[in-house]
Amino acid sequence: MTAAQAITHDDYVRFRTFLEKACGIVLGDGKEYLIVSRLAKLLRDEDISSVAELLTAVERGHPRHLRDVVIDAMTTNETSWFRDRSPFEVLENEVLPEMDANGIRQCRIWSSACSSGQEPYTISITLSEYLRSAPTSGLANAQVIATDISTSMLVLAKQAEYDNAILGRGLSEQRKKAFFKPVGDRWIVADDIRRRVSFKEQNLLLSYAALGKFDIIFCRNVLIYFSSERKTDILNRMAAALNPGGYLFLGASETITGYSDAFEMVRSPHGVFYRLKR
Ligand SMILES: C[S@@+](CC[C@H](N)C(=O)[O-])C[C@H]1O[C@@H](n2cnc3c(N)ncnc32)[C@H](O)[C@@H]1O
Repeated sequence: MTAAQAITHDDYVRFRTFLEKACGIVLGDGKEYLIVSRLAKLLRDEDISSVAELLTAVERGHPRHLRDVVIDAMTTNETSWFRDRSPFEVLENEVLPEMDANGIRQCRIWSSACSSGQEPYTISITLSEYLRSAPTSGLANAQVIATDISTSMLVLAKQAEYDNAILGRGLSEQRKKAFFKPVGDRWIVADDIRRRVSFKEQNLLLSYAALGKFDIIFCRNVLIYFSSERKTDILNRMAAALNPGGYLFLGASETITGYSDAFEMVRSPHGVFYRLKR
């Protein structure tokens, strides 16, 4: 599909209804260009001539992979190492020491929209740095459970291999040398950082019951794409997935205000985070 082959209004409405139901992403009015640009390659690769034909195939469920590749094409996977810095400074200097002071063991951390892995591996690096300065910490067996809806992002995240350009987005040379091993002209996340992190496919719109309970949830830079109703529902279900006193981190442009009153906002010297009300 080229820009010249504009999508009809009816197909646009049909497509955005499908997308919101499938993954929560809300497309406002006048975003036809976004669909055209993001689906062009997919339509070519799959030999499909229009969005209408694509939607019919997705609804029919044949070929089966089509639904996943459409969602892959429409999600924004932008991420970086130590994104916004503050959440990871809060984690190291406020949250982990507080959990140790509360005697918490078997800490489980959920990176709930992990994209290509930078967020969960950054959390694991932060844990290693904390444990170096707190050798008697009870958090030595902490686990990071990383999930995303995008199967292609999960493949990249599990590979844990990145090039210099990607590593350059937020990672210092010192951390690169300490936590990555060179593989040709690329770098792979070191075993002790990888070992803590496991990956799983999870659509945030669906039940979290199979994931178990968490002490900390990172839900960063994904709620911005969802409607108010979806934000409220997701935040309340995340509250239910947290152990008492558990912590929540949102993206820099995201807030809980107006969506859920299950959390209190904590303003610390290192930044803002949320704690489940007792
Ligand atoms: C912009 S990235 C954010 C990555 C990371 N959390 C960060 O802050 O750098 C948004 C991620 O949310 C994922 N996503 C979008 N809709 C989702 C849904 N319904 N369930 C789970 N993940 C979703 C996308 O696949 C994408 O990887």
